[in-house]
Amino acid sequence: MDREIRFFEVGPRDGLQNEATIVDPGDRVTMIEGLVDAGVTDIEIGSFVHPSWVPQMEGTEQVARMLDRRDGVRYWALVPNLKGLKRALAVDIEHVAVFMSATESHNQKNLNRSLDESLEALEETIRQARGEVKAIRAYISTAFGCPFEGKVDFDRVLKIGDRLLDMGADHLSLGDTIGVGSPPAIRQGCRKALDRFGVEKVALHLHDTQGLAVANTLVAYEQGVRLFDGAVGGMGGCPYAPGAAGNVASEDLVNLFEQLGAASGLDIDRLCEVTRWLHEDLGFSMGSRYFAYWRAAQGGEQ
Ligand code: HMG
Ligand code: MG
Repeated sequence: MDREIRFFEVGPRDGLQNEATIVDPGDRVTMIEGLVDAGVTDIEIGSFVHPSWVPQMEGTEQVARMLDRRDGVRYWALVPNLKGLKRALAVDIEHVAVFMSATESHNQKNLNRSLDESLEALEETIRQARGEVKAIRAYISTAFGCPFEGKVDFDRVLKIGDRLLDMGADHLSLGDTIGVGSPPAIRQGCRKALDRFGVEKVALHLHDTQGLAVANTLVAYEQGVRLFDGAVGGMGGCPYAPGAAGNVASEDLVNLFEQLGAASGLDIDRLCEVTRWLHEDLGFSMGSRYFAYWRAAQGGEQ
């Protein structure tokens, strides 16, 4: 099996959407461009959700307009519905991500819809996106546990995955939204997802609430998953999932892959420079273990 992995950066969207401080579009662009300089080729630049639901993501239009887009980089945006898709298309976004949950209560809190209503709305959103964009990702949140319903039967995730792929999504990103997946659960879920959908259609999106995200990445990698989401500095969380901590840090993932001899194409020092800027200039606290190590090695604060 191919050892190479594909990395998908969600920091400018998932990383910033749950912070108390709202970052202005100019700094969001600086962050995105720093990540692209570090070798990121798939990056979520923001979302087109309702600004009163997630004020941190207001201004994604400006971000999209200000970006100096580079060849070979896919600039993704998260869209919840048709209105979000139209906003994305209006600023020439060519890669969109839709989302829903595996559980009724989180879906209701996050999208104000039942699962059936979301499936119906996404069918139309994906149908319209198909002719307009180059690729569509579909997140399934709460795939490994729900803040309201606890354990999740993974067969529900597989069935929703079937539906979203049938509608025309190109790949799924399985979200451990509140970071409660254990290595055995992740191993089993990834095995089932890979058997059902194939490696090209499965990404893993881990939040690191219990410090297990790197261990969970390793078991997923051993099962054959090759597309991993991360957020620079370990920032992130869903504002409608109580208890959600940051995403697994991009630099922690890249460090793991380097140690496994799996090429990711990313420059870990440049990633850490972006984390340092977010920490020192913008004042965010960072959950990244590798960054703490890197900084100490440079004689910085520990
Ligand atoms: P709603 O209140 O049901 O919306 O919210 P509605 O369809 O009833 O429309 C109400 C008004 O909102 C209308 O305006 C619409 O036009 C407007 P009015 O006619 O009253 O003037 N509206 C919009 N405006 C701007 N952009 C839009 C939009 N849609 C409708 N896209 C809605 C439904 C989906 C809008 C809302 O629930 C929402 O924005 N939710 C987003 C929540 C969110 O962003 N959560 C975080 C991202 S998901 C995540 O983090 C998980 C993930 O990382 C994976 C993981 O970790 O598992 C992806
Ligand atoms: Mg997330």
